[in-house]
Amino acid sequence: MSDQPTDPNDRAGPGRDYLAVNRAWWDERAPLHAGPGSIYDLDAFRRRPDRLHSIESEEVGDVAGRTLLHLQCHIGTDTLSWATRGAIVTGIDFSPPALAVARGLAQELGLADRARFVESDVYGLPDRLDGEFDVVFASWGAIAWLPDVARWFRVAARFARPGGFVYLADGHPTAWIFNDDAATPGDLRVTYPYFTTDGPIAYVGPDISGSYAVPDAPTAHNDTHEWIHPIAWIVQAAIDAGLTVELLHEHTQIPWRMFPFLVGGDDGLYRLPDGMPSIPLSFSLRARKPAGWRGAGRR
Ligand SMILES: C[S@@+](CC[C@H](N)C(=O)[O-])C[C@H]1O[C@@H](n2cnc3c(N)ncnc32)[C@H](O)[C@@H]1O
Repeated sequence: MSDQPTDPNDRAGPGRDYLAVNRAWWDERAPLHAGPGSIYDLDAFRRRPDRLHSIESEEVGDVAGRTLLHLQCHIGTDTLSWATRGAIVTGIDFSPPALAVARGLAQELGLADRARFVESDVYGLPDRLDGEFDVVFASWGAIAWLPDVARWFRVAARFARPGGFVYLADGHPTAWIFNDDAATPGDLRVTYPYFTTDGPIAYVGPDISGSYAVPDAPTAHNDTHEWIHPIAWIVQAAIDAGLTVELLHEHTQIPWRMFPFLVGGDDGLYRLPDGMPSIPLSFSLRARKPAGWRGAGRR
């Protein structure tokens, strides 16, 4: 891709440390996400600790007895869902309050013997964690927080065992280019560039408080730095990390109300309204580390 910036880590905005800005946003929200009125609804999760959707369930498959590393695990609901299904899980996240919730849930659910949580920035993980895993997993709102998807995949590939795989399910970059406050499909406007060559896509001002999980919560840290990663860059990143892409799917469902007009289903997925021409809302990718893998990718 000729549009690929030469140094994506320089794209975090003038004078702004994207990690500190984003961590402040997440540190403030993690306790709110664990509290009353949040869509995470931890009381319901304690009664039935399995929050996985059909997309990742079917594409990751049976995890019983397998080791699974969950990148950007947030408050641990998905991580512990995999543990409920029999995986031995390690969740990592850069937000201490999120990990505190995750560790507490693991204790409460009797899963602490098969679930550990490590505080780390994704890019710094090779300095914080050893080992290799059968499955390296991330989903639903992960890579938009990182400026360089090629680097993200190099870290993910580092932690897959030869013969194991990296799995990522996330919002589709085509859907991210639109204004997410569109009340009807006709209100959609191309708002953000698909090829983010000159900075983060969203610097959200102090007028937008709360989050997708607690929209009405008053919050103080309301700035974020986020990036759109075009599908070709994502696939190329997996290839360049030395992985073999064996599955790439585009979906017209997504597990959160990305646009107000989406229609929620009993399966926890939101869909386009009947009659609307289709656009992809999410994608999923599974890429395997070759059994004979002997080091970093080609570039
Ligand atoms: C939308 S959440 C992931 C949600 C997850 N699928 C779930 O619902 O459990 C994104 C997570 O990424 C984490 N995060 C963002 N940037 C990060 C970074 N650079 N390193 C590690 N974690 C990061 C945030 O703390 C947050 O917990």
